[in-house]
Amino acid sequence: MCGIVGYVGDRSALPVLLEGLKSLEYRGYDSAGVALPLDGCLEVVRRAGKVDELIAATAGSANGQHSGIGHTRWATCGEPSESNAHPHRDCTGNLAIVHNGIIENHVQLRQELVAGGHVFHSATDSEVVAHLVEAHVNAGADLLDAVRLAARELHGSFAIVAIDARNPGAIVGARVDAPLVLGLGDGEYFLASDVAPLLPYTRRVVWLADGEAAQLSPAGVRIVDLEGVEHAPSSSEIAWDREAAEKAGFPDFMLKEIHEQPRALRDTLRGRADASGELTLDELALSPEDIAGVDKIFIVACGSSYHAGLVAKYAFERWARIPVEIDVASEFRYRDPVLSPKTLVVGISQSGETADTLAAIRYARRQQARTVVITNVVGSSISREADGVLYTHAGPEIGVAATKTLTTQIACLWLLGLWFSWARGALSPEAAAEVIADLWRCPEQMEEVLADDSRVREVAERFAPAEGFLFIGRGVGYPLAMEGALKLKEISYVHAEGFAAGEMKHGPIALIDKGVPVVAIATHSRVLGKLISNIEEARARGASIVCVAQKGDERVLEVAGDVLVVPQTAELLSPMLDLIPLQLLAYHVAKARGCDPDRPRNLAKSVTVE
Ligand code: AGP
Repeated sequence: MCGIVGYVGDRSALPVLLEGLKSLEYRGYDSAGVALPLDGCLEVVRRAGKVDELIAATAGSANGQHSGIGHTRWATCGEPSESNAHPHRDCTGNLAIVHNGIIENHVQLRQELVAGGHVFHSATDSEVVAHLVEAHVNAGADLLDAVRLAARELHGSFAIVAIDARNPGAIVGARVDAPLVLGLGDGEYFLASDVAPLLPYTRRVVWLADGEAAQLSPAGVRIVDLEGVEHAPSSSEIAWDREAAEKAGFPDFMLKEIHEQPRALRDTLRGRADASGELTLDELALSPEDIAGVDKIFIVACGSSYHAGLVAKYAFERWARIPVEIDVASEFRYRDPVLSPKTLVVGISQSGETADTLAAIRYARRQQARTVVITNVVGSSISREADGVLYTHAGPEIGVAATKTLTTQIACLWLLGLWFSWARGALSPEAAAEVIADLWRCPEQMEEVLADDSRVREVAERFAPAEGFLFIGRGVGYPLAMEGALKLKEISYVHAEGFAAGEMKHGPIALIDKGVPVVAIATHSRVLGKLISNIEEARARGASIVCVAQKGDERVLEVAGDVLVVPQTAELLSPMLDLIPLQLLAYHVAKARGCDPDRPRNLAKSVTVE
């Protein structure tokens, strides 16, 4: 979950590192640090807290160094503090490393290193890497070999970048199960956890593969595997521009990303579903014959991505008439699910780095199941693990709360569901074409919902002081209730729960008291009448009812205190529109309560540990 960055080239390294760390701060922000070579020694500055603390601390520092490494931390081993902040140095103080991930065998390694005379200064697992690399340098290895040999001794997940003041013209990185991307400039090179720090300088990148190490110097890039075998670098161009990674005039990334959803959805559909009803999903690597051989689908994911899976289950089962099971990835991998070559396992992860989802896909492959993943990050770990990949094309999502990546995941899942229903002959071509036409209307309808933001804000500000919220829904509205509650609690720290409305009477209704806000997802569906009865029951007990409802739905108007209006669409596609008022509600409650929606406490964007 930490963010790491490295630079070597003609520029002054410090501003490149600090700017890079700012753009990586969403990955973790409990401490930050940089290491830069200066006159044969390393200058290391570290601070507890956000990157701004580090920026203030380096204000007077010399700016003449042309290489360096930096880190912003999300603590996993060792409390958040300055002494546990990265970079970590070896015993000489000349060599330093930054690390993202978890070293599972750090206790044993530390004991061996201490027995060999190494002195440790932190409580982190990461510091063992500095001393291991030092041991290999002392044994005569150059920095690239030392890092690769050290990497071979580590168990766990890691991306590492190392620098040695005795050879300031090079930095070295290596990765296993944690992301690391190289940026190729003109005589200058970058290493980072994702592309955001590179975009101001270059769009040409090399995605380091698992088990590769790279040395970057003004002379160029050298890549080897952990055995030392040379690999030719294979570069690609990033389509995202710098502006896409910035706030574009919005006060927060989350609000910007909510407003980007119509564009993101168009990008997701473009080239895959045309208005005449044609579907092109070659990237799935699943022929109609392959699909005919699938008798069951498992969906695995975490958090909001799991909610995307729940939404998709309704569509898959209704359109394609195929059984779908869905699990949170952390449960799936440990419960011995029954898989076979006839099973398709669909993994959903916006980051493509979520440890549990990645492990679930690996498990599925070991059981000979077919695998497809849906992710937003090209080159992410999960994209390299599956038989087929559907990219969401949402663009970078910086806010910790998933918004545009969630709606585009749902769109990808619907395309997959339509592909299945077509291949299985479960939905007529006319009916499928109608769904696709409705789907193509969604971006414009989303714009309509977004234009009503001030109404959502007014409702949110009125209810912001509430101590708890309940969200209820039926059918496809049920996972939306769970998502509405998750979004609210993660960014505004208000207690919120999402329930199937039919379950209210089995317990949750006891929570209802005078004025408790109950948010009902009450758009048109085959079960709207039943949902309205559940709303009545809550209203009779004094709840304040907020409904997400379609324009002119008189039945809902009668029971709702407040209505957040969305345009009419087909029942199964309604999540695409209903999610927007729920996201805006969470955002405005968070703002009204003085919370930072982009950087909620205790959370990180990418959860690369179990
Ligand atoms: C969503 O708002 C959350 N931040 C979180 O639940 C997220 O969806 C989850 O961690 C899964 O992440 P992934 O999609 O990158 O795998």
